[in-house]
Amino acid sequence: MVPKGVLSRYGHLLNLPSHTQPVTLLEGATPLIPVPRLARELAEGMELWVKYEGLNPTGSFKDRGMTAAISEALGRGAKTVICASTGNTAASAAAYAARAGMKCIVLIPQGKVAAGKLAGALAYGAQVIQVEGSFDDALHLVMEITRKHPIALVNSLNPYRIEGQKTAAFEICDDLGSAPDWLCLPVGNAGNITAYWAGFRQYHELKHTGLPRLLGVQAAGAAPLVLGHPVDRPETVATAIRIGRPARGEEALQAAAESGGRIIAVRDEEILRMQRLLAQTEGIWVEPASAAGLAGLAAEIAAGHLRARGQRIVAVCTGHGLKDPDIIRGLPAQPIVLPPRLDSLEEVILRL
Ligand code: F0G
Repeated sequence: MVPKGVLSRYGHLLNLPSHTQPVTLLEGATPLIPVPRLARELAEGMELWVKYEGLNPTGSFKDRGMTAAISEALGRGAKTVICASTGNTAASAAAYAARAGMKCIVLIPQGKVAAGKLAGALAYGAQVIQVEGSFDDALHLVMEITRKHPIALVNSLNPYRIEGQKTAAFEICDDLGSAPDWLCLPVGNAGNITAYWAGFRQYHELKHTGLPRLLGVQAAGAAPLVLGHPVDRPETVATAIRIGRPARGEEALQAAAESGGRIIAVRDEEILRMQRLLAQTEGIWVEPASAAGLAGLAAEIAAGHLRARGQRIVAVCTGHGLKDPDIIRGLPAQPIVLPPRLDSLEEVILRL
C-alpha cells in the first residue's frame, strides 16, 4: 500500500477550500494498540485500546490538524504562520511550515515547555518567542497580531485544524468496525475533543458507526471546564494542558454533554502514576498530559462512576514520552553506577 497522509486518505470527508495545496509528512494511521494487561489492572472484563498519537511525524496528534491548516494557508498564498503553544503545536507548525517553505513564529510560555518540544520547534527553524506569561497570554497575543497583519493563525481556532483532527475518529471507527463505547482523552485548549466529536458524528451519519461517550480529562490545577470558570494561574506537571481559558471550552462541554459523557479533573499524582503504569505494563511511554485520559478513566472506575465491564474503551495518548524526558529524570528510580567488574554486576543482578 502506498503510504498516505490524512488529507489523501480522508480529504473527501473534510471541509477544506478548493485552493488547499497539500503539505504532508504522511501523518496519521497511528496504531490502535490493545492494552490487556493495563485493562486488567483497572477493571474486570473491559476491552481497552490506546490510540497512540505520539507516533505521528513530530510526536503528537497536532500533525493531523496541522497538515490541513498549513495546506490551506499555503494555497491561499500565506507566507508566514503563527501560533501560541504549550509546545506540541509549536513543533508541528514549525515542521509543516518548513515543508511548505513558509516562515513560522511560535509563542510559548517561558520556562513551561518540555525540552523535546522546544528543541523540535528550534530544529525545524521556527522563530521561537518565549512570553513572560501563560499560554493564555500567548494565545491572546497571536489572536491580536493576526487581526492586524497578514499572518495565518494555525492554533485550533483555525477551523481547518479541527477538520484534520477529525481523522483520528475516522481511523478508530475504521479499525474497530464501529465507535467504541467510551473515548477518554486529555483536554487543554479543547480543540481535540471538539474535533473527535465532530468526526464521530460525521462518520455515524455516513456509516452508522454509533457514537462514543466522551470522557474529557483536565489536570486539577488547570481545570476551568470542571470548575466552571477561567483559571488565572493554571499549574500542572502536564505542561501540555496547562491552560486556564480554553478557546473551545464551550464546544468541549457541549460535546461531552451531547455524548452522554463528561469532563473531569485528575491530580498530578494520578497522571504521573498512570504514565508509569502504562509504560511499565504495556511498553507505551507517553508524555504526562497524554496519560490524563487513562488516569481519568481509572479514577471514574475506582469511584464507581463508570461501569467498565463489557465496554470497549479507547484512550487517546496524544504525545510521545520522548517529548518530556525531564519528568523521568526526576523519578526516584535512576541508573546505578558500577565499576567495570563482573563481581559488582553479579551483586546487583542477584539483588533484583
Ligand atoms: N495532549 C497533548 C500532548 C497536547 O499537547 C495537548 C495540547 C492536549 C493533549 C490537549 O489538546 O488543546 O486540543 O484540548 N496542546 C496544545 C499545544 C495546547 O500548544 O501544543 P487540546
